[in-house]
Amino acid sequence: MNDLKRLPYQPLKALPRPAVGTSEQLIALPEPDRTSGLPLMGALWQRKSTRTFEEQALPPTLLSELLWAADGVNRPQGGGRTAPTPHGENVIDVYAALPSGLYRYDPVHHYLQLKLAEDVRSLTGYQDFVGMAPLDLIYVVNHGRMQDMPPKLRETFAAASAGAMAQNVYLYCASTGLGTVIRGWLNRQQLAEHMSLNEDEVPILSQTVGYPAKDENWLL
Ligand SMILES: Cc1cc2nc3c(=O)[nH]c(=O)nc-3n(C[C@H](O)[C@H](O)[C@H](O)COP(=O)(O)O)c2cc1C
Repeated sequence: MNDLKRLPYQPLKALPRPAVGTSEQLIALPEPDRTSGLPLMGALWQRKSTRTFEEQALPPTLLSELLWAADGVNRPQGGGRTAPTPHGENVIDVYAALPSGLYRYDPVHHYLQLKLAEDVRSLTGYQDFVGMAPLDLIYVVNHGRMQDMPPKLRETFAAASAGAMAQNVYLYCASTGLGTVIRGWLNRQQLAEHMSLNEDEVPILSQTVGYPAKDENWLL
């Protein structure tokens, strides 16, 4: 994002908030539909970043499908994922910051596992929609899984892996009428501390998802 676009945003005082509703230990996700949404070319024509959102929660079907689009298992026999991985190693974990808590997406079992019973959405960035939209994804690189990769390439590999997942989410959102924006403007250290991550785990990108504000087109 360029400086001109940053100007309207006043950095928010980021504080975790009490979870809204019940923080279930596990959120089971419905089986993703194989036929929903626009075909690929239609989605590519619609892909864009959105920065104004409704607060309305995402229904379980959409939450399930977008997590599956990000990093789901699409070849169950070998455990292959929807996004490419360096050396076949899954170096990025996807977290979902929801009003009811912070969850880690488990692609193998296709469920969300509670990490923290707090609403940490506002800690995932500085912009005004952060903490208001119903979902912020957080892409966390696990450096412990990159030990066999050349040190010079690790940062590139991690960024490319998270970027591929983020683009999958962009295309899923475009295909279903959701809005999204990938965000690199975040306080990695503060977020890592609040997420209770290990030393070798670093949040590198966030991605807000929600229904676009009804007047979104007037703001473009
Ligand atoms: C690595 C990366 C980091 C980004 N960080 C932010 C960000 O922190 N905040 C934001 O509003 N947009 C961010 N963006 C989105 C870009 O600003 C956006 O993609 C660009 O303006 C082009 O607009 P479009 O996505 O609608 O084509 C980022 C994009 C990328 C690829």
